[in-house]
Amino acid sequence: MYAAKHDRYATMRYNRCGKSGLKLPAVALGLWQNFGSQGCFATMEKMIHTAFDLGVVHFDLANNYGAPYGGSAEENFGRILSDMRSYRDEMCISTKAGYGMWPGPYGDRNGSRKYLISSLDQSLGRMGLEYVDIFYHHATDPDTPIEETALALDQIVRSGKALYIGISNYNRAQTEAILKIFRELRVPFVVNQPSYAMLNRWVEHDGLDTYALSEGFGLAVYSPLYQGLLTDRYLNGIPADSRAGKGNEHLRSLLNEKMLAKLGALNSIAAERGQTLSQLALSWVLHNPAVTTVITGASSPQQVAMNAACVGHLDFADEEIAKIEEILK
Ligand SMILES: NC(=O)c1ccc[n+]([C@@H]2O[C@H](COP(=O)([O-])OP(=O)(O)OC[C@H]3O[C@@H](n4cnc5c(N)ncnc54)[C@H](OP(=O)(O)O)[C@@H]3O)[C@@H](O)[C@H]2O)c1
Repeated sequence: MYAAKHDRYATMRYNRCGKSGLKLPAVALGLWQNFGSQGCFATMEKMIHTAFDLGVVHFDLANNYGAPYGGSAEENFGRILSDMRSYRDEMCISTKAGYGMWPGPYGDRNGSRKYLISSLDQSLGRMGLEYVDIFYHHATDPDTPIEETALALDQIVRSGKALYIGISNYNRAQTEAILKIFRELRVPFVVNQPSYAMLNRWVEHDGLDTYALSEGFGLAVYSPLYQGLLTDRYLNGIPADSRAGKGNEHLRSLLNEKMLAKLGALNSIAAERGQTLSQLALSWVLHNPAVTTVITGASSPQQVAMNAACVGHLDFADEEIAKIEEILK
């Protein structure tokens, strides 16, 4: 029987999500990879327990997470939760719908009322929950009127199945369009979930980060470690049990000499700061004032613990930021 550590709130920081009442831990854990039915259940359980014991109380899921079939991550999370039910109110659990999930026109990538409402019902069933804390529209759908998507999200909150609403992979212009309707409907929209990392700065170029600050919603950043590139994982080759080692061609293609020189230089800065490269990469993302939380992934409890510990050194000297900019050029 799991019993949470008494000192679990001793070190984690909690940031307000935009101007809402919701706070999120600076470091969150996502269950996209390594939580499907292909993985080792004991490791998954240990990762969730390790996270919770370190104040990482935000768990991010989606209907399609898990391999070999979408939904298996929610099922495994539900199994893990069965031993943690007494802590439900200490957790912020999110799920999403938007990408393709089941066969036929209603489970394709889309943003229809039909898909979003039935998908959330399925997610709640898999996790054994009555409601999620945040429900996201996972990706934009140019073919569904955004009024329909916004009204479906509004209905989901009114039905009590989600407390807050988020959108993911919406750029600034797309966010602006749906935000207008959310405001008319008074939908509790609190967060956008974009990708963002030292090696992926579209959020800055697009202006989504400054827009989030000015409009008062949070950013929950995904893949802040660029799927593991911004860690010590690949500094000395490609381990067989790593994401690139297991066949992620995109990551493999990026691992050339120039990239390794960049990672080596960043690793030296991390060492000077008394951090690991992953901790530096997370601190750097959190340094952007628009960012509420970094949604990290992990394949071991040790990685979860290492990442949570980034909160011990989040501040940067101007010279450090300048050095990092030089390396990232
Ligand atoms: N909204 C969206 O469209 C969307 C898309 C993608 C992800 N997400 C969310 O974001 C979450 C995180 O995404 P991600 O997994 O790509 O994030 P990430 O944090 O950039 O990468 C996680 C991977 O980095 C490696 N890693 C993590 N910590 C490490 C450490 N301390 N030392 C060495 N290696 C470390 C592990 O790779 P190895 O497996 O190689 O050990 C781990 O699986 C997902 O679970 C999901 O919740 C959302």
